[in-house]
Parts: sequence; C-alpha cells; structure tokens
Amino acid sequence: EKGTYPHFMLKEIDEQPLVMRRIIQQYKDESGKLKVDEGVRQAVKAADRLYIIACGTSWHAGLVGKQFLETIAGVPTEVHIASEFSYNMPLLSERPLFVFISQSGETADCRSVLVDVKQLGHPTLTITNSPGSTLSREADHTLLLHAGPEIAVASTKAYTAQIAVLSILSVDVANGKGRTLTFDPLQELAIVANAMEVLCAQKDDYEQIARDYLSETRNAFFIGRAVDYYVVMEAALKLKEISYIQAEGFAGGELKHGTIALIEDGTPVFGLITQEHVAGHLRGNLQEVAARGANTCAIVSHDQARPGDQHVLPEVHPHFSPLASVIPFQLIAYYAALHRGCDVDKPRNLAKSVTVE
Ligand code: M6R
Repeated sequence: EKGTYPHFMLKEIDEQPLVMRRIIQQYKDESGKLKVDEGVRQAVKAADRLYIIACGTSWHAGLVGKQFLETIAGVPTEVHIASEFSYNMPLLSERPLFVFISQSGETADCRSVLVDVKQLGHPTLTITNSPGSTLSREADHTLLLHAGPEIAVASTKAYTAQIAVLSILSVDVANGKGRTLTFDPLQELAIVANAMEVLCAQKDDYEQIARDYLSETRNAFFIGRAVDYYVVMEAALKLKEISYIQAEGFAGGELKHGTIALIEDGTPVFGLITQEHVAGHLRGNLQEVAARGANTCAIVSHDQARPGDQHVLPEVHPHFSPLASVIPFQLIAYYAALHRGCDVDKPRNLAKSVTVE
C-alpha cells in the first residue's frame, strides 16, 4: 500500500535508507561481522571470471558491481545485456560463474541465458528481490535484496539494494582472499543510509531543479566519468521511462566525439562529479557545453565540492557514492514526470516485469 504517498515511486525512493539498514542486518552474523551464504562464497571462489547478465536498471547496477568486484575483490568481471548475450557470446573463461541480477527474477531475457549456460554446465547465481522467482529457483545459488515489494515500474530501491549487495559480496570475497581493506563496508553502508535520508529530505530542491530544467524541454543529457558514467546512464533511463523526455547518459569524454553537436541554447545537461581522478575533466566538459548554450547542473560529492557548487551530496565513501548520487536523479525524474502530467507509476508501453524476449 502506498499510504499517504501519492505514488509508489516516491514511497520506494524514501524507503531506501530503511532498505540499506535491512541489508546490513541481513548480511551480518551475531558478532556483527559481514556474512554471505557459504555456497555463494565457494562459487565465487571457484570461478576465474564472473559474467553478470541483466537488463535495464539491473544492468546499470551490474556495471557498478563490476567496479566493486574488480577493484575491491580483484575478480575479473564482465557485464552483459541479457538480450544480447546469446548472439554476442564472448569467449568464456575456463571456470565462469554466471551472475543474474534481476529485481523480479522473472525477466525472460535473463532466463533465456540462464537456460543456455546451464545446458553448458556452468554454475549460476541469481541476485534478486523475489525469493521463489523463476531465476532464483533455477539458479544454483541466490542472494536476496531484501528491498520489500517494488511496485512502481521505475526501479529505485531495487537498484540501490543491488549495488549494496554487490558491494557486500565483493568485500566478502576480498576478505576470503586476505586482501586488506581500508574501510568497513557495513559501517559505510550505515553512513550511506544516513546520507540517503538527508537527500530524501531535500525533495523541494530536486523538485525545483525539475521545474527549472525539465518542464519544457524535449531532451536532456547526463554526463559522468568512471563510476559516475554508470550512474548517469541510470539517471537518463529513469527520466526517459517516466517523463518521456528523450534522455541520454554518456561518458563525459565522448562529448567531443559527436554528442556535443546536439547542444543548443537551453539544452539541459546534468553532470555528476564524485570521483577525484576525473572531476577536473568533467567540470571541463560542463564548461564546454555551457559555452555552447547548455543549461548545466552539476551534482557534486562532498569531497569534490568547490565554492559556488549548488548541489553538494552528503559525505559517503567514494566506493559507495552511486548509492547516494542516484537519489537526486530519481527525485528529479519523479518530479519531471509529475509536472508533465505523466502516469508516474505506470508509464506507457512498459510492464514491471518483462516476461517476453
Ligand atoms: O526485474 P528486472 O530487474 O530483471 O528488470 C529489468 C528491467 O526490465 C528493469 O530494470 C527496467 O529497466 C526498469 N523499468 C527500470 O526502471
């Protein structure tokens, strides 16, 4: 039930701090230490490469997950769009583990890959919000998101839950390998939950951004670099699916290779800046488009903020920044759709779970 909320999407955005705290509880043992199912742990340990298979928002979470698995755990990881995988199947490593990320656990494109790789005899893991779903039943192992039912077609809390669970899995693997980590993941996730609460309390600011930048526009661009690139792809998907504004999320460095030709007077361009090693370049990209008339809006992490920045995120560990930085974009998409009179929870042409290939 949506209670006092006008839409499930807004309720689900607001539930994200609670979901983070639930995940922390579910993935720790009595002594407060991080714990992941032993079978999953062994399956990842036995693999020489992970192949993440997913669609839409879950694919975007997988891209962030790859970053964790490679940088935190040192596990080579590829991320594939389920519907492309069968005909663009890469050369597989000797001991692959297939990881299906699916909120519903019912997505036909994922199931089709699952059937194929099982036939080839490869081990499989499903990361899902739905215990008992097809993908969970048919895979060898399951990790649950514990996000509670997600009703709005636009996925919000499942995305952040997927990223949180992937971070926990990565840390667990890193611990198993004796890698030294400079952060405590459960503590960082608790900080993330607090940051999410702060962001959810800033709805008026994001509503104003939606009004200022998106009430009239035909299109909108989102740029980021490194992990921020993955987050802006999700930002663009969120906006397009519920507001029907043509939106594109792309790598800041690609601007000059074509997309900058689309910038006109007043074109909205959102830039996400949370990673030190690329912050300067992304600021440069925003200046380039502003010089061509774009209406730019920078969303900046606490540690990258400069005087004059208007939208600064609360402080979280840079590894975990997607969990906080996506929230302004979820809210901006929500309010843009609302102001444009769209059916937020049930956008046209879309279904919550896509059970056809
Ligand atoms: O249930 P799944 O996670 O497998 O669904 C995958 C996509 O269909 C889903 O994420 C879709 O892109 C959402 N509508 C995005 O908000």
